[in-house]
Amino acid sequence: MNTYKNMLIAETIADVRAQVREWKAAGLTVGLVPTMGYLHEGHTSLVDAAAAQCDKVVASVFVNPTQFGPGEDLEAYPRDFDRDCGLLEEHGCSLVFHPSVEEMYAPDAATYVEILDDMPKQLCGKTRPIHFRGVCTVVSKLFNIVTPDKAFFGQKDAQQLVVIRRMVRDMSYGIEIVGCPIIREEDGLAKSSRNTYLNAEERQAALVLSRSIALAKKLIADGNRNAEVVLTAMRALIEEEPLAKIDYVSAVDGYNLQPVEGLEPGTLVAMAVYIGKTRLIDNFIVE
Ligand code: PAF
Repeated sequence: MNTYKNMLIAETIADVRAQVREWKAAGLTVGLVPTMGYLHEGHTSLVDAAAAQCDKVVASVFVNPTQFGPGEDLEAYPRDFDRDCGLLEEHGCSLVFHPSVEEMYAPDAATYVEILDDMPKQLCGKTRPIHFRGVCTVVSKLFNIVTPDKAFFGQKDAQQLVVIRRMVRDMSYGIEIVGCPIIREEDGLAKSSRNTYLNAEERQAALVLSRSIALAKKLIADGNRNAEVVLTAMRALIEEEPLAKIDYVSAVDGYNLQPVEGLEPGTLVAMAVYIGKTRLIDNFIVE
């Protein structure tokens, strides 16, 4: 295994298993932070949470091909492993798992983990039909490889968090899933590796997502609990921005992702909006 300062770098499943076995034999707990790399403060907040709650933190850096559909940004997805190692080490990660595609998927791999109700087909699943099958498959493989006590995911990918919680329940993984808050830039834009695709004009236009959330929260605070009223106001605000094109702006049950008519505590209000060619997501949970 290679090292970066105090952090181990594993490229094989066997190396991860051997190290985790050693830690567990010593009675240590292990937290997993799955990532696709090109880390930002959203990711490092997950590492911080894992380091606070577990003795050892394993982060994975793997751009998972099975969760990208044809024509999506698999090849263009930003990568900078050296920079990622610096950030992970700084935030207390003990081991980074950085496998090749060949290490993760045999050439004839044909087994997937898929939730067969329509939860993964809601929201992002409408335009990304195979996405959550790929996410569940790779996360399930990472759970089997790392066998963590806890795994940490960002609330920014709200649908992913709900889908993973369901998979963990359905497949009886004895792993606690910890959801961590969205981290935003000072001006409100939710941190995302895909923000790097935005030019200066698009970066400004992208603020319309968090502005629409602020508007929705204000309408709710003023007593509006009708989902369609609030969603219509959010869509109207977003449509005023010439560079923005709405994929969806929806209010759904925070557990099964079915559309709702009333905005109750726990309702997930989520959106995907194209800014130029870049598809951005954001959300909040109604209080
Ligand atoms: O959220 C992500 O970055 C990815 O979907 C994940 C969970 C690392 C699986 O590839």
